[in-house]
Amino acid sequence: MNERSEVPEYVPEDVPEDVPEDVPEDVIDAERIRRDFPIFERVINGHPLVYLDSAATSQKPRRVIDAVSDFYANHNANAHRGIYQLGEEATEAFEGARAKLAAFFGAADVRTIVFTRGTTESMNLVAQGWGRKFLHEGDEVLLTDMEHHSNIVPWQLTAQVTGAVLRYIPLTDDGQLDLSDLERPRNDHPARPTDRVGPCREGPRRDRCRPAGSPPLHLGDRAGL
Ligand SMILES: Cc1ncc(COP(=O)(O)O)c(C=O)c1O
Repeated sequence: MNERSEVPEYVPEDVPEDVPEDVPEDVIDAERIRRDFPIFERVINGHPLVYLDSAATSQKPRRVIDAVSDFYANHNANAHRGIYQLGEEATEAFEGARAKLAAFFGAADVRTIVFTRGTTESMNLVAQGWGRKFLHEGDEVLLTDMEHHSNIVPWQLTAQVTGAVLRYIPLTDDGQLDLSDLERPRNDHPARPTDRVGPCREGPRRDRCRPAGSPPLHLGDRAGL
């Protein structure tokens, strides 16, 4: 596939009918969102379920559960490798999902959408792929004190090979990223996990990375994306 792969227009499917038209876009209707997730019908220890571990494992809305179940019940086969009807259906579903995601994210090319099993695999892919190719001795990789190990260990391994140096933006006393002195990040990590959501928009910006010619990398599970 050398030709640029066209990205289809993103068309939202089945917008639920019960969304009132006068709700401003920035208001999140938590009750309506909860109703999409069957697991929130559970009552545990006498209380409706509240789940806060989404970065580790996200709960699934009904339509995802139904789509996965339908795939295993009706179409399961090897994508890209089976030249029979089920194989073709599996390939179509797989590539269809990639095209929809590309349209949703506004990607320039569907080939830029890469499926991985999770954050750790994604970070290793970037650190071992992009990092090993473009980082050189003395380059700085700017992380923060709120990183999960999945976004530290891959960079430590790449730093060992390339000679790049890891720097960490510290946290303020109330656990926010301390962006007051971005020019002097620390060179050690406190090795304690945090549960914070990073200030994606105010954080390390593209213009600060540009002198090194490198892009910022937002870890979606922590950045509230
Ligand atoms: C906050 C946070 N980030 C990242 C990860 C790693 O995610 P994954 O299991 O998708 O590699 C976890 C896993 O528990 C996590 O809790």
